[in-house]
Amino acid sequence: MPFSSKLALLGATALVALCPLTPATAQDAQPWADTTLSPDARADLVVKAMTQAEKIQLVFGYFSTDLADHDFVHPADGQPAAAGYIAGIARLGIPAQSETDAGVGVATQRTPTPRLRTSLPAGIATAATWDTSLAYAGGAMIGNEARLSGFNVQLAGGVNLMRDPRNGRNFEYGGEDPLLAGLMVGNEIKGIQSNHIISTVKHFAFNNQETNRNFIDARIDDAAARESDLLAFQMAIETGQPGSVMCSYNRINGDYACENNWLLNQVLKLDWGYNGYVMSDWGATHSTVPAANAGLDQQSGWPFDKSPYFKDALGEAVDNGHVSEARFDDMAHRILRSMFANGLFDQPIDGDQSATIDYAGHAQVTQQDAEGGIVLLKNTGILPLARSARTILIVGGHADKGVLSGGGSSQVYPVGGLAVPDTYPAHFPGPIAYDPSSPMQGIAARTQAMVTYDDGSDPQVTASLAKKADVVIVFATRWEAESVDVTTLNLPDNQDALIDAVTAANTRTVVVLETGGPVAMPWLAKAGAVLEAWYPGTSGGEAIARVLTGEVDPSGHLPVTFAASLDQLPRPKLDGDPAVQGGHPHVDYDIEGAAVGYKWFDKKGFKPLFPFGYGLSYTTFAYDGLTAAADGPSVKVTFVLKNTGSMAGKAVAQVYVAPVAGGWEAPKRLGAFTKLDLAPSQSQSVSLDVDPRLLATFDSASKTWRIAAGDYKVMLGTSATDMVQTATLHLDGATLDVRGQLSR
Ligand code: BGC
Repeated sequence: MPFSSKLALLGATALVALCPLTPATAQDAQPWADTTLSPDARADLVVKAMTQAEKIQLVFGYFSTDLADHDFVHPADGQPAAAGYIAGIARLGIPAQSETDAGVGVATQRTPTPRLRTSLPAGIATAATWDTSLAYAGGAMIGNEARLSGFNVQLAGGVNLMRDPRNGRNFEYGGEDPLLAGLMVGNEIKGIQSNHIISTVKHFAFNNQETNRNFIDARIDDAAARESDLLAFQMAIETGQPGSVMCSYNRINGDYACENNWLLNQVLKLDWGYNGYVMSDWGATHSTVPAANAGLDQQSGWPFDKSPYFKDALGEAVDNGHVSEARFDDMAHRILRSMFANGLFDQPIDGDQSATIDYAGHAQVTQQDAEGGIVLLKNTGILPLARSARTILIVGGHADKGVLSGGGSSQVYPVGGLAVPDTYPAHFPGPIAYDPSSPMQGIAARTQAMVTYDDGSDPQVTASLAKKADVVIVFATRWEAESVDVTTLNLPDNQDALIDAVTAANTRTVVVLETGGPVAMPWLAKAGAVLEAWYPGTSGGEAIARVLTGEVDPSGHLPVTFAASLDQLPRPKLDGDPAVQGGHPHVDYDIEGAAVGYKWFDKKGFKPLFPFGYGLSYTTFAYDGLTAAADGPSVKVTFVLKNTGSMAGKAVAQVYVAPVAGGWEAPKRLGAFTKLDLAPSQSQSVSLDVDPRLLATFDSASKTWRIAAGDYKVMLGTSATDMVQTATLHLDGATLDVRGQLSR
């Protein structure tokens, strides 16, 4: 080292020795450490101090799992078998972004040594609770496990509407209605982020089927889009303020979601004023310049894409002006802004603290969620299980060992380990994972009856056993998973024939469904009772047992319509099948437009197997005194709800709204809802506001929501087809801006 350098070094050392870095000087060096500044101001200060290489580092994410077929080893500091990692920048004090899937808990990519964590029930099950406080509590719980597992970004918040019951990922989402899905998923996101970590909302947008998901072009008109799936995203974002939005694999109206100017720049960032960052789904980036200019802020999950578009190529594009410096800075700014806003700088994660996770407490959280989401679809009076039963035969579904979960990247490996040895080939989206919470054990612990198990593999043997039992409980399962759609509404593996044989042998048969979405029930007329338990999570067996025995009232209501047959759907055949459509697969969402789910059934006059919003209880409720009055651009609805039965229970009150003159995508919409816990004879007054966007139609030319002057019906219902009270009111008409606010 030349002398002068040595001197300089000495001088520097001396300076440090004389003036140790006080917080004030640290702040001078890194002025963004000042927590009194806004996240935007802090992000601006960091961006100013960054080199081009550092910005590139921030906007380019890696998969954090080894991939032998890509010759890829996960980043050294990333968590193994995890979703993603972006190294921090020590010079600037920027923390690493450590990403984990997903919406039901801390997932692990397939590996022999997964992290074992608490799993919530499937997203569709949480939506079936219609209870925003349970959604928040579940989010807070899994966010805590993410944080204590060393993650500060959770890839949760799936809000794609159920446009097709065959979508293999319906179980990850919040159902078919924009208000219900938006509020439930938004509250989950809020709960996750209460842990000072970032959550996404995903998959933006119109990734509503898995068939050909990487190429399919979802075609939909702007207004219909804004009144349906986009409204669900808009409401989830308003409620949860997610730090990131994950753009999806598919194309929308021709352009890939992650390079779709309309979707990302216009709708999300400009119209809704979203100030977080857009990350791509893993393998959903297709370009450098179009993607960056259309609004993608971060490429995720290298090496899933064809090329590292947001690495050197992005630097070159900035150098030669194809992507402006301002846009490049905006990409970095948005990521940093979300990191500041969500506490990633100020409350940093502290490595793997998973030994401190309160699994016992978390088991209660997931159990309450599961109990709230189990839907009683039919009951001839055989539930709750009679105390006088002497023999109970449990059939199928591995109910002696556990409950099923959904497959793919969201897979949480359950605390306690898999209950049933995995039979799926060693590739994605497996394994077929059963959570170790046995419904049979839960039932046996709550009855004097002798409880026996038969696996149901021979329907004739099972039927003869069923004849001799006082009660039979059949557990029917359908495994659904990311990347594959189901092809029929029927239960797989001959289970319909099994249930047919058992219900023929014994009418005191309860069918418990563990499915990720709607199924057909050809045996329905013969069953004594039917429960939809979805994928109920790591305490699911206990939850099912408590509902069956009446320890807890079933209070779930369907967040989706159960079609009577595929013929009733907008697309009786799935679109986008490459075998049918050739090289340019597309799905035509203009067929139903915004008339998704029950709206489509209403419009067409189809009678579903079970309607949206449906769910029975062991107690009875009375609704009375409905009033509806205009309140600015909104409508205020009041009524009184009473538990008229002899058991405590929870009612889901649903308010539907409809213009008397018509003119919407469908006759009516869900306008508001609430869930109330009522003791026997207890009554409660309720007041709900209808979001004005649910009274309006979207006008694409002026980008406004327009409420037409006229008479409106307000209906209080227990499902989309069962109305108990109706009121009519007149609205003067109003125009709201694109965010649903009164225009000035
Ligand atoms: C899924 C995302 C997930 C990502 C990372 C993708 O295949 O679509 O939902 O977050 O992988 O695992």
